[in-house]
Amino acid sequence: MSVKIIGTGSALPEKIVTNDDLTQLVDTSDEWIKERTGIGSRRISTGETVVSLAAQACEKALENAGREAAQVQLLLVATCTPEMGIPCAACQVQSLLGAANAVAFDLNAACAGFLFALNTAYAYIEAGIYENALIVGSEVLSKIVDWTDRGTCVLFGDGAGAVLVERSEQPGILGFVQHSDGTKGEVLKCDSRQLKNPYISLTFDSPFVKMDGREVFAFAVRQVPSCIQEVLQQTQLDAGDVDLYVLHQANRRIVEGIAKRLGVEMDKFPMNLDRVGNMSSAAIPVLLDELNREGRLQEGMTLVLSGFGAGLTYGACVLRW
Ligand code: ACO
Repeated sequence: MSVKIIGTGSALPEKIVTNDDLTQLVDTSDEWIKERTGIGSRRISTGETVVSLAAQACEKALENAGREAAQVQLLLVATCTPEMGIPCAACQVQSLLGAANAVAFDLNAACAGFLFALNTAYAYIEAGIYENALIVGSEVLSKIVDWTDRGTCVLFGDGAGAVLVERSEQPGILGFVQHSDGTKGEVLKCDSRQLKNPYISLTFDSPFVKMDGREVFAFAVRQVPSCIQEVLQQTQLDAGDVDLYVLHQANRRIVEGIAKRLGVEMDKFPMNLDRVGNMSSAAIPVLLDELNREGRLQEGMTLVLSGFGAGLTYGACVLRW
């Protein structure tokens, strides 16, 4: 028995914002952004929401898998930018999809959110509790970005990606590792609603993303290769046995740093961040869906997925396509 991805889908907002467009907002240049990050443009919501994008991505994943919404037993939304505190985004997506038989809830592990949700679904299915799960990473980061801060506003994009996983007799997920380091939470953070009641004086801070870019960079190139090595060891594979590394799309230089430490050629690290920027929990499933629809994923291929981000959170998974 294994747990296998049987369908993928994704949805992006219509509006494309190029690096040149951003020069109208902040003191930056296409050259600086491309050289430091690899990003050329990103999609930015002009009305699309975490829920609407997630529902579209889910519909496509269901169609790709040949399954109906009513068959879904578990629906997980990974997001750090939900529209509402309550109800959770997953229940709103459930309603839009008509996935009436699913148990639905959200999970927030920032850019590692999709991976942690995939592992949660894997555990439920392995334990025999559910037969299948629809997992979606969806973000509208443009809501929490300070559009006057050139250090962060050039990095992010909006979008959603989904996969349907199912209990299978074919090999699927082979191994998983997950890690969290809450002591480093300060390096990448965004305040939520603050305490505001009649008994205290107001002390509002700006609810925007704040980041120590260098610390994030150092964390990613140090911890991600070691957690990939850990999951490869767990599954008795070598880095060279892997056909594709589908990593969180934060920054081209981070991906290059990870590839170098693993001693693996860059052609095994597909990237789409030049077109979509960093979409946090949506990054991995959107890239996976693009690869799937381009026909680049052949049955029997070995993939490593790895997510890393605020928390700090990071993890990796090995699976057979
Ligand atoms: N355009 C032009 N200049 C800029 C911009 C910009 N958009 N942003 C910053 N600068 C300037 C700075 O003000 C600074 O100027 P100064 O020397 O006059 O003070 C100079 O560029 C260098 O700034 P640094 O922050 O030191 O630049 P660095 O080389 O570290 O690159 C970057 C910044 C790209 C953010 C890098 O640290 C990085 O890639 N970090 C990883 C962060 C990341 O990917 N975060 C995504 C979210 S987390 C995640 O998904 C895992």
